[in-house]
Amino acid sequence: MFTFLSSLGPLNALALVFGSLTVFYAGRKVLIDNKIRKNGGVRAPILATNPLFGIHFFIRLTYLAFNNRLSDYQDYVYTWATLDSRDLVEISYLQGPEFHKAWSPFLGDSIFTTDGKQWSESRTLIRSMLINDRTIEIMDLFYRMALDITTEFLLGTSVNSPANPGQEFVQAFHEVQKYKILFTALAPWDMVVPSHRYRKGIRTLERFIEPFIACTLALAPEDLEKLSKSDKESTFLHNIARFPRDAKVIRDQILAVLIADVLATCGRRAAPMYEDLKRLSYLTHTLNETLRLHPAVPYNVRAALQDTTLPSMSPGKPPIAVLKGDAVFCSPLEMQRRRDLYPEPTDKFADPAIFSLDRREHWTPKAWHYLPFNGGPRICIGQSLL
Ligand code: HEM
Repeated sequence: MFTFLSSLGPLNALALVFGSLTVFYAGRKVLIDNKIRKNGGVRAPILATNPLFGIHFFIRLTYLAFNNRLSDYQDYVYTWATLDSRDLVEISYLQGPEFHKAWSPFLGDSIFTTDGKQWSESRTLIRSMLINDRTIEIMDLFYRMALDITTEFLLGTSVNSPANPGQEFVQAFHEVQKYKILFTALAPWDMVVPSHRYRKGIRTLERFIEPFIACTLALAPEDLEKLSKSDKESTFLHNIARFPRDAKVIRDQILAVLIADVLATCGRRAAPMYEDLKRLSYLTHTLNETLRLHPAVPYNVRAALQDTTLPSMSPGKPPIAVLKGDAVFCSPLEMQRRRDLYPEPTDKFADPAIFSLDRREHWTPKAWHYLPFNGGPRICIGQSLL
């Protein structure tokens, strides 16, 4: 083929390639127009008749995606199409062969890339693993997170306990607390419990904080004063060491704040249940509003199982034709920001572009107007976990 083209000379070769492409696209247009005539409906707005003429869309899309501004893309597309193309309705749930081809090197023949029996089997399998009463113990993680934040705040150095759960300090802190609770519960019989592990634990904690205290006390008062005023380097230790300059007083204050902070965060003894999480309305509002403005799946695509039409959004306008295998893109990101799907902003109901935690107090989305987990047969099966 290449030899044949080069034998024609550059101008003739170019004319032949250009001519063939023109015939190909013109022929394809006639075929599609014919199918649409039989199917009913009108063509969706055409952005470009071939990939070359549409190259600016791809460049723009890549640029916006890399700059985290995907939502601007839709507006860019609409300036080239007509407003009618904002139609979004429920369509069949076939991922389609094109989708499989594009994603299978990464996701293989999994639930995301397959259709029919294969998809249905994957869904049943994964679902069965998600629907159970397994509780996940997160108390320990909260505990260690609180310990980390508090040691960072107090001493300027975190014990980094999630990464080092077996660390001496973390174990000692846990042990001391455990014994303290036991002693309190058993009083006045606490003296019958051997307390050497309790005292050993306290020594371990002291060994950890003492170098920090010594280092701080070794600073000249004017340096300490300067440090305690610094936005970045100042710690609780720097501030407290300005006054007593006594290692024992400082040690006592630090351990007191350490225990108070950690207990305040993890003080609850009963394990939280799933129902408790659902009652956390502030958390629910935060998740809802975050997924409204920033859905984790901002764009989605479906392929038509058969020739069909999508109703036009404008009353009286003809429907848009969708032929078998056509890919239909839809965007929860764009849709969930559409002003016309919301009531007028008021004192109580913020503009839809704004992140507003009390939005759901005054508004409930209509079916299919809020789709961060998609809907229909391929709705996210992890939704109930959140
Ligand atoms: C905020 C968290 C999540 C969001 C926003 C989310 C969103 C979505 C969306 C939009 C889809 C539909 C994709 C499509 O239409 O092709 C989906 C499907 C799916 N999600 Fe999630 N998801 C979340 C968390 C989870 C979790 C925690 C799990 C599993 C434990 C999970 C498992 C799945 C599976 C297996 C599917 C495929 C369903 C199918 O094609 O039949 N998701 N998710």
